[in-house]
Parts: sequence; structure tokens; C-alpha cells
Amino acid sequence: MSKYEQVKEELLTDKKTWLITGVAGFIGSNLLETLLKLNQSVVGLDNFATGFQHNLDEVQSQVSDKQWQNFRFIEGDIRSFEDCQTACAGVDYVLHQAALGSVPRSIKDPITTNSANITGFLNILTAARDAEVSSFTYAASSSTYGDHPALPKVEDNIGKPLSPYAVTKYVNELYAEVFARTYGFKTIGLRYFNIFGKRQTPDGAYAAVIPKWTAAMITGNEVFINGDGETSRDFNFIENAVQANILAATATDDAKNEVYNVAVGGRTTLNTLFTALQDNLAVSGVGYDESPVYRDFRVGDVRHSQADIGKIQNALGYAPQFDIIQGIEKAMPWYVKSLK
Ligand SMILES: NC(=O)c1ccc[n+]([C@@H]2O[C@H](COP(=O)([O-])OP(=O)(O)OC[C@H]3O[C@@H](n4cnc5c(N)ncnc54)[C@H](O)[C@@H]3O)[C@@H](O)[C@H]2O)c1
Repeated sequence: MSKYEQVKEELLTDKKTWLITGVAGFIGSNLLETLLKLNQSVVGLDNFATGFQHNLDEVQSQVSDKQWQNFRFIEGDIRSFEDCQTACAGVDYVLHQAALGSVPRSIKDPITTNSANITGFLNILTAARDAEVSSFTYAASSSTYGDHPALPKVEDNIGKPLSPYAVTKYVNELYAEVFARTYGFKTIGLRYFNIFGKRQTPDGAYAAVIPKWTAAMITGNEVFINGDGETSRDFNFIENAVQANILAATATDDAKNEVYNVAVGGRTTLNTLFTALQDNLAVSGVGYDESPVYRDFRVGDVRHSQADIGKIQNALGYAPQFDIIQGIEKAMPWYVKSLK
């Protein structure tokens, strides 16, 4: 039995209270769905900056009434220390996901990104420390590798940040380390590499590439590729990221005060991704015969990204269950249903 299966089985008979910040967002709502299905008790905090009530409604439709009773939602803001204190009261495990994502958003408005991602992070970290929670896991980012040229990315070798967003995510890691050193409060940072799956919004200027392109293909619109299409990413299906969070939250002390890559360990170019989405949609009966439209490279974007996942495999027993193609196959029916 895998470590993940073992932990899930233990949780089923050992109800804990979890706090998910950013619960109405993409990753947060997927964490919520899995935890409620494991009969856990969940407190969720969100201010709907980029999250949606319809994500919470969809989770409700996927769980039993009894499981839904185990969820308590607080509409609040991590930039308020008081909201963070309220949310952390009586909690065992914190999964901190709330932040303003997107490199271009941070370039357009670094001040708002900074306040959510740095002030908000410090507030929730401090409130969790004061509440003496058993574990604190936070969403870090592969953007922390910045301009470091090495591939695959190994946790200890980072370069200079390429955007305000990357700065904020790196500052999270610095605060986390300082909290371990000065207060003995040990956390785990999960450096996500391009996560995708159901409930990742295709809407808005800052949408991620997979939902944006999928939506364009389904609605018959143009697909834009920034650059020559040979930019590459380690795309990771949401279920693998959920696994990483649950393993991190329940990890023993010796695995804490660390950051871990959360990825598959593969590398897919945007050109290959385009074809994979096109092929997969054809299976669902959605034909898209247009060619992509190439335009300028985007400022702040890293050229190549691929993770070494040895550290998280060894320390947490993480074993990704889906590669990119399997993930696309699982995610597509949701997009087809939601967007058609
Ligand atoms: N999706 C990815 O590929 C990826 C990659 C690297 C890191 N991350 C990180 O993972 C986390 C979750 O990302 P996501 O893709 O689910 O994004 P998302 O935008 O769908 O979710 C973020 C949630 O946080 C909430 N939020 C934002 N500011 C808040 C505030 N001040 N107070 C309370 N709630 C607030 C939003 O309303 C939203 O529901 C973020 O920290 C993001 O930086 C994501």
C-alpha cells in the first residue's frame, strides 16, 4: 500500500480539523473535496478575490449532506490578523493556499500582490503559531527558481526572482525558515509546478495556460502562444498536489522546516501541450482545426521548468498518480461540461 493510501485510511477513522485558506479557489476547493470525502472537519477562509462561490457549491454537490456539515466557511481576508486568528482557532492542520497568483498580475500591480502574499502570509503564519496547530503547510512556487539555469530543478539551487510574484513566494519561504529558527514553529512549503485540473478558471486576463487554451478550443476562439512554443513546463495534475498536501500535513517532525517540489518530473513544451489538448478534445467530440497564433515572449516568464521530485518522494512518500496525459484525460470532461 502506498504511503498516501495508508494516510487516507488512517484519516478515515481519525477525524482532524483542517484550515484551508483560499478554499474557494482552484487548489483549495479540490483539497476541500478530498478532505470532506475522508470525513474530515474543515474550516475554509476566503475573500473571493479570485475564488468563487460556485466552486464551493460544486464541492457540496460531490459530497454527502453529512460530509458537508463538517465544513464551516469564513468569508474573510488573510490581510486581517483578526480573521486569521478566528480561522486558526481549534485547528489541527493548516493548508495555506490563499494568495494572488499570476506573474503578469504581479507585474501590473505589485502592491496588491505583496499585501496578500507577504502580509497575508505573515498573518496566517503568526496566527497558526499562536494557535499551536500541529502542522502548517503552505503553497510555495516553482517561480522561486527564477533565473537559475539548471534542469531539473533541485530545491537547494535557486536563482534570482524574475517577477514580483516570485519575490513574494520566496519571502514566504524565508519567513517560514525564520519562524522555525526563532520560535521552533516548523512548516512545510510545497513548491508547486503548474498545477491543472477541474475548477481552475479559464476566465480573466490571468488565467493559466491549460484552462485558457481549453476554453478557447471549446468555444472556437484563437489560441495564443507566447514565444516560439518551445517554452516548457512540468505540468502537474491537481490530484498529485492534493496528495502532496495531505502527506505534508501529516508528516513527522523530521520532514518539517523544508520546502519540496510538487510536480511529476516531466517536461512538456507549449507546442506539445497544444497538440495534446487538441487530440484529447477530439475524443470528447470537440474538433479544433485552427493553428495556434504565435506572439511575443511574456516578460517575467521562466523559459524551462522541470522538477527533480526525489526529495519529496524520499521524505514524504509522495508518488504522483497521474502524468500530464492522464491528468488531461481526467480534467477534460469537466471543461467540456462546464464550457460547452
Ligand atoms: N495553480 C498553480 O499552478 C500554482 C503554482 C504555484 C503556486 N500556486 C499557489 O497555490 C495557491 C493556490 O493557487 P490556485 O491556483 O488555487 O489559485 P486561485 O486563485 O484559484 O486560489 C487562490 C484563492 O485565494 C483566495 N485569496 C486571495 N487573496 C486572499 C486574501 N487576501 N484573503 C483570503 N483569501 C484570498 C482567492 O479568492 C482564491 O480563492 C496560491 O498560493 C498560488 O500562488 C499555484
